[in-house]
Amino acid sequence: MASAVAEGTTESGNVECVIEKPGEMHSDELTLLDTILFGAPNHNQEPARNIMKFMGRATILELDQKIGAIFDTYTGGNKGVAASKLEAMVKKEIPCIKIVVQSLSARVEDRRGPLSEGEIERALAFG
Ligand SMILES: Cc1cc2nc3c(=O)[nH]c(=O)nc-3n(C[C@H](O)[C@H](O)[C@H](O)COP(=O)(O)O)c2cc1C
Repeated sequence: MASAVAEGTTESGNVECVIEKPGEMHSDELTLLDTILFGAPNHNQEPARNIMKFMGRATILELDQKIGAIFDTYTGGNKGVAASKLEAMVKKEIPCIKIVVQSLSARVEDRRGPLSEGEIERALAFG
């Protein structure tokens, strides 16, 4: 999902997009970016805990003028549940990041994937 979103961003123009996992990036690095897309899988109707923890550390950073977007993946009937919680978290705890598009929620066929039909195209367009 993240790869398809990243591909979509770079296809849209002169954009460099990097994918980072929460454990591989220091939250301070967010200050160097223009745009931040937060994505998480739905785990028990919540965004995966490691993403929330990472975002918690971002609340103390100077992120004014940044724009952002949110996406999630899910398997069952929980379309958009994790994304709406991520979005609520950003709006409440990191309001200096302006969310500029409607969040994207992509279905995966089972817990190990793959993405359901049509979701890659939606992720590209979202990017
Ligand atoms: C521990 C766990 C809990 C999950 N809980 C839910 C859930 O409550 N609702 C849902 O739609 N999908 C649930 N899923 C499915 C994941 O959302 C799906 O596997 C994930 O989005 C795939 O992305 P990933 O490859 O990054 O893990 C769960 C998966 C795991 C591993």
